[in-house]
Amino acid sequence: MDLNQALEQIGKAPTLEHLQALKVQYLGKNGQITQALKSLGQLPPEARRERGQELNTWKKALEEALQTREKELRQEALKAQLERETLDVSLPGYAFPAGGLHLTSLILGELVNLFRRLGFSVVEGPEVESEFFNFDALNMPEWHPARDMQDTFWVDLKPPFTLQGPLGETVNDLGGAVLRTHTSGMQIRYMIQHTPPFRIVVPGRVFRYEQTDASHEAMFYQLEGLVVGPNITMADLKGAIHELARGLFGKEGKARFQPTYFPFVEPGAQFAMWWPERGKWLELGGAGMVHPYLFRAVDDYRARQGLPRVYEGMTGWAFGMGVERLAILRYGIPDIRYFYQNRLSFLRQFR
Ligand code: DAH
Repeated sequence: MDLNQALEQIGKAPTLEHLQALKVQYLGKNGQITQALKSLGQLPPEARRERGQELNTWKKALEEALQTREKELRQEALKAQLERETLDVSLPGYAFPAGGLHLTSLILGELVNLFRRLGFSVVEGPEVESEFFNFDALNMPEWHPARDMQDTFWVDLKPPFTLQGPLGETVNDLGGAVLRTHTSGMQIRYMIQHTPPFRIVVPGRVFRYEQTDASHEAMFYQLEGLVVGPNITMADLKGAIHELARGLFGKEGKARFQPTYFPFVEPGAQFAMWWPERGKWLELGGAGMVHPYLFRAVDDYRARQGLPRVYEGMTGWAFGMGVERLAILRYGIPDIRYFYQNRLSFLRQFR
């Protein structure tokens, strides 16, 4: 065995694993030095002493070299680790992508807040609705031509799915189930459940069986309004819609009404709002005085459920408007389909 060569090997060991292997090779149980020491006994006494001393010096030298190299390697490893794991505390943090509200939510929030200020409550209804609440009770019987304008999606409800009425009762016997075509059905539900006077707005998603194009979608949002009490007049309706126009378009905002037909109001109107900034009228929705047929239908329903009739002689007004439509007109959005394609480049412009 060549000591110098061994020492050099140790001094150059590239890793702790290599070093450990060398340690085993020389000083392990079967290592070269250990073996040599064991076989000393076979030498004549003179030679044994000399060889013994020599082996012990070698052993010491090897042990020292191993220790030194181990220290070096450990230090190198530590240094490398420190370099690897340095933390630059002056680096700016990650920017969290901030979410935002959808354009429809923004407009709905704005509308609902304006009505809250006028003392309205906000309520919501089911999107799967019975034919009775969506059509019949709103004075649109099966044969009524107005139903054609709202040709819709019918839902095949099978147990365990049931439709619930406003009092928690099962109403699977009230015609078919539809994806509601408007939020107006909530007028009936709310009236059955409450005693006038009251003021409500109903934001919600509605569905139509439509060929979609730039101005038609199969799903969109409406905001419905309903006020019922004694001695409510068309002037109250006009006042509220004017107030809404001012809220949306500023001091010079105003509303215009033109007669039109909806089965659930009499008289009925369509209304537009004046947009002073652009100098034009925006057609936004329908409105009118609640048709007495609705009050009768509600009282009849209540009577069947053992509730007192409270709508006789009542008066009220209602309106319904398209939410996306307001956004489209206000921002000049060219295609209603942009709303629900989840395209961030579109949505980000409005949060
Ligand atoms: N429900 C009607 C529609 O979707 C809109 C409407 C018109 C609602 C007149 C009303 C109303 O409450 O009085 O076309």
